[in-house]
Amino acid sequence: MYAGLSNLARRKQNSIMSLNLRWVGEESFERVAETRMRCYAASANLLPRFIDGLGKIRREQPGDILLAEKNGEAVGTSTSLSMHIHMRGGRIACQGVAYVGTIKTARRLGAGEQHGVASQLMRETLRKAREREQPISALMPFRASYYEHFGYGNAERRAEWTVPLSILPKGDFAGYRFYRDSDLPRLMAMRHAECQRGQCDIETSPEAWQIWMSQWPDGMVAVDAGDSTSDGDLQSMVYFLEDRSGPSATIKIADWCADSPTAMLRLFRFLASLKDQYSEVRITLPGDFPLNRILRESQIPHRQVDHPVPAVRPFTRMQIRILDHARALQAMKLPSATSGKTTLLIRECEGTESRFTVDVDQGSIAVVPTSQSPALEISDVLWASIVSGDLRATAAQCVGLLPASTSPATLTLLDAFSDGPTPFCQEYF
Ligand SMILES: CC(C)(COP(=O)(O)OP(=O)(O)OC[C@H]1O[C@@H](n2cnc3c(N)ncnc32)[C@H](O)[C@@H]1OP(=O)(O)O)[C@@H](O)C(=O)NCCC(=O)NCCS
Repeated sequence: MYAGLSNLARRKQNSIMSLNLRWVGEESFERVAETRMRCYAASANLLPRFIDGLGKIRREQPGDILLAEKNGEAVGTSTSLSMHIHMRGGRIACQGVAYVGTIKTARRLGAGEQHGVASQLMRETLRKAREREQPISALMPFRASYYEHFGYGNAERRAEWTVPLSILPKGDFAGYRFYRDSDLPRLMAMRHAECQRGQCDIETSPEAWQIWMSQWPDGMVAVDAGDSTSDGDLQSMVYFLEDRSGPSATIKIADWCADSPTAMLRLFRFLASLKDQYSEVRITLPGDFPLNRILRESQIPHRQVDHPVPAVRPFTRMQIRILDHARALQAMKLPSATSGKTTLLIRECEGTESRFTVDVDQGSIAVVPTSQSPALEISDVLWASIVSGDLRATAAQCVGLLPASTSPATLTLLDAFSDGPTPFCQEYF
């Protein structure tokens, strides 16, 4: 039995040894589509869908797709998109990691010094981000704990609300009408402004617009053009689908954008007006959006009730890895009341250490490498969550993730990364 196991280990090692990693372009798209299908699909006849995904409407540029091959057969793939993330007012080049997968017959082959297929893909994918000088890498994980192996921490707080239309706020929404093709430039401008105001939001590229717009015919798109003439700014948009699979008809909001709290209120009023056709609406909002406060019933019940009430489910999604601490932090601006200095040691998943001083002067951040002993030593995973504003340093200390001995001055400084909008990304990849 034991001899059998060690043979298995040896077989695993040998099978991984010969892995060849190469970045490919259009010439290999058929191979990539087949590999993605073998990673994710339930059946081989779904291949055309994966081929379509690499057709004319796509975000991948030449050299963005990585293939792992063994003895000439593709066994895994990942994709490295070039994007921009907005963090505390700074626009930062960001890698968007997508389509990480190992084909169903080549998984969990790591043993000892030899990493598994996806682990090798992820290491090479992160190397690509460094080569492209992208200080941040972001992804939407299938399992957060898997990507923690590669230094990614949660960087988004989302909440899905299900609200009976009967308790939505009623009132004026006169600017609402169906989307027209001529709205596109103003829609893009509204979305871009939202991204700049937000935290950890990622810009919607022209290619991404093409992808999202190609899906619109599955539902309907309405915009709030206010009381302006055709060339005024748009105030909100909503892309909605209907779901009649349950006991009652639900409006599913697949995408929304609003340029002010007033515009958001009018969006909810518009949805309220649909109550003769639908019972409830499902919408995902930033985790701290106090939607129940503007409903006609503010209660999120603590007990069984017999009146219409909202339900809310918080969830995590995007994770980020900080690859270049100086460039990422120096692009950000903390609240102007923030001044102070601390020395940090970040334990990187590759086994290295990043040691630097964070010096904040009226919100402006300077990062200087140092050999001084650190005031705080933390993992890259926890650091990513603190910098993104997903986890307040004080809260991390409350649950024992930061040592009780962390100085109040260091905690106060790190808490400032959580001041401002909650991390929430409207883009998906
Ligand atoms: C998730 C997935 C990519 C993993 O692929 P894989 O090649 O089996 O991954 P690896 O072998 O690198 O890692 C698997 C596990 O082995 C561990 N491992 C890898 N190399 C190792 C080594 N040398 N020694 C010990 N453990 C090792 C990893 O840490 C990981 O551990 P975990 O399960 O505790 O997180 C693969 O299962 C997949 O494609 N699933 C489809 C899921 C999906 O939807 N993907 C995302 C869409 S974006």
